[in-house]
Amino acid sequence: MVQSPLTIGVFDSGVGGLTVLRALQARLLGAQFLYLGDMARLPYGTKSAQVVTTYTLKAAAALVSKGAQSLVIACSTASSCAIPELEALYPHIPIIDVITPTVAHVSMYGARDILILATQGTVSSHLYKNLITKTAPHICVHEVATPLLVGLAEEGWRDPHIVSQVLDHYLEGFKHFDTIDTVVLGCTHFPFHLDAIKLYFGSHVNVVDTAIPAAEKARSQWPSVMLDEGSTHYYVTDSPERFRSTAELFLSHEIPSDQVTLINL
Ligand code: DGL
Repeated sequence: MVQSPLTIGVFDSGVGGLTVLRALQARLLGAQFLYLGDMARLPYGTKSAQVVTTYTLKAAAALVSKGAQSLVIACSTASSCAIPELEALYPHIPIIDVITPTVAHVSMYGARDILILATQGTVSSHLYKNLITKTAPHICVHEVATPLLVGLAEEGWRDPHIVSQVLDHYLEGFKHFDTIDTVVLGCTHFPFHLDAIKLYFGSHVNVVDTAIPAAEKARSQWPSVMLDEGSTHYYVTDSPERFRSTAELFLSHEIPSDQVTLINL
């Protein structure tokens, strides 16, 4: 068990990982967070696993060089391909991804028929499906890429009608509406649309935000965080002002401009 990871690096391609940051902040009071949004290279979801892995390794190196003692990969696309290489490169740094805690969660609570909504990269990796099937072979898993939801979130658009149209488009021909009991938001941008997605599927479907199992895992693994006032600094590879204005929508509070630093990877 790791003692007092005072500085936690949190990484995503853009603002999506803020949904994970928010869940971590609520559970790890007193921790210092370094958030990196790779705005210059977004979206990751349309890129190859090899390219996303290269970007992720660069982002991790930047966070470690700035003092991160542990890492949370708050991006499903990066989590779907880069974790083995990250763990090999940083054997002494605890790393939490968003996929494995979510798989453990859905396998345990009794889901039987799951729809994973994610980026194309995450869907193509089939990591959710493979891990769930391995852990709980009785669970039926469907995977559908809904990449436009990333763009909508980056634009700060929350209109439920648009989200519903986007889902209609991607789910045209999907035959399992009647049987699914769980929808996993397999991209950290998607909880920005949580209310609209819940409305779309109806109250009988459990919608899982991967931020929650990931943050719960962080809390259980890193329990001895000091109870001082925590802090967060943001690093972006492009557009600090655009990042700030969308991030403020995600986090529902202001981010002072001196808390956002433009860096090169
Ligand atoms: N937030 C990221 C994820 O969880 C990806 C969005 C993107 O860059 O395509 O997959």
